[in-house]
Amino acid sequence: MPKAIVVRETGKASNMKFEEVKVGKPKKGEVLISQKAIGLNYIDVYFRTGLYPAPQMPLTPGMEAAGDVIAVGAGVTDFKAGDRVAYGSVLGAYAEERIVPADRVVKIPKGISYELAASVMLKGMTTEYLLRRTWKVKKGDTILFHAAAGGVGSMATQWANELGATVIGTVGSKEKVKIAKAQGCHHVINYREKDFVSEVMRITKNKGVDVVYDGVGKDTFPGSLDCIRPLGMWVTFGQASGSIPDMNLGLLSQKGSLFVTRPTLMTYIAKREDLVMSTKAMFGAINKGIIDVSVNQTYPLKDAAKAHRDLEGRKTTGATVLLV
Ligand SMILES: NC(=O)c1ccc[n+]([C@@H]2O[C@H](COP(=O)([O-])OP(=O)(O)OC[C@H]3O[C@@H](n4cnc5c(N)ncnc54)[C@H](OP(=O)(O)O)[C@@H]3O)[C@@H](O)[C@H]2O)c1
Repeated sequence: MPKAIVVRETGKASNMKFEEVKVGKPKKGEVLISQKAIGLNYIDVYFRTGLYPAPQMPLTPGMEAAGDVIAVGAGVTDFKAGDRVAYGSVLGAYAEERIVPADRVVKIPKGISYELAASVMLKGMTTEYLLRRTWKVKKGDTILFHAAAGGVGSMATQWANELGATVIGTVGSKEKVKIAKAQGCHHVINYREKDFVSEVMRITKNKGVDVVYDGVGKDTFPGSLDCIRPLGMWVTFGQASGSIPDMNLGLLSQKGSLFVTRPTLMTYIAKREDLVMSTKAMFGAINKGIIDVSVNQTYPLKDAAKAHRDLEGRKTTGATVLLV
């Protein structure tokens, strides 16, 4: 029987157990995948801890993976056994084998490994919609991206650079400063050593940035709002340091008629056509060398708990993959 990570009670990383599971056969509109590589994402921590409620218990965390189709259900015509496929936002990815709705799956382009595909589906599509559809980054913009050496941060800062923006990145260590600079951040701030608000205002000559992309949450609130120029946008898309407190919307007027959005990938790829468009743009950016994806950590799937501890301990950089 195939194995998967199973969480019976939300909480610590050690609550993730590697167990045999029943997978069954794909039903109408579904594909059964033998998985080779699984991407690690901060959302996996939110589900494991219970910050995001699991739709059902026990829970198998994980949202993105790549592997081979081994069977298809009735009505599936776009995929067949043997196809190399990947997906980016379907809960339950920490598994050797699993069933996924076919309309959430794409074929892996030639020349892209399972490891690379698994590391970019969720993070790459997130980068695509954040930079091209939430705030449309254009030449001449100045953007602030928090956690610039992380999974999403590494891809987004490279892509924003290509779009012609001046990119300011924040990071939490000296080693990460080097990584973010090498990725093309024009300015890097170690926010564990320096006050990022005054640094941003110094760099922008007190103008502020057009947009802040904030996946850190609690620790960068409300400072992020003080970095934005009047009528700019705060894109709060995650909370790696903890949830932001309830916010008085009056703050947005006081800080300069700011716009705020709390987007999720699910909304931006809800339609199949958007998912296909987003993955095409993302794989295109990889093929053209706009994004150079670094899989800096790999772990066997059975060691998912160690991978979570490292992610939460701010020890990882770039993308992380669990190998089957
Ligand atoms: N809304 C969406 O559609 C969407 C989609 C994908 C991801 N996200 C969000 O994007 C963010 C990044 O996700 P990711 O998977 O790529 O993770 P990641 O950036 O690889 O890891 C999180 C990073 O956050 C920083 N951080 C700051 N304070 C922290 C703290 N107290 N504890 C832990 N980390 C802290 C760390 O970098 P430093 O040490 O450099 O500070 C850490 O490496 C997350 O908030 C995630 O939920 C949102």
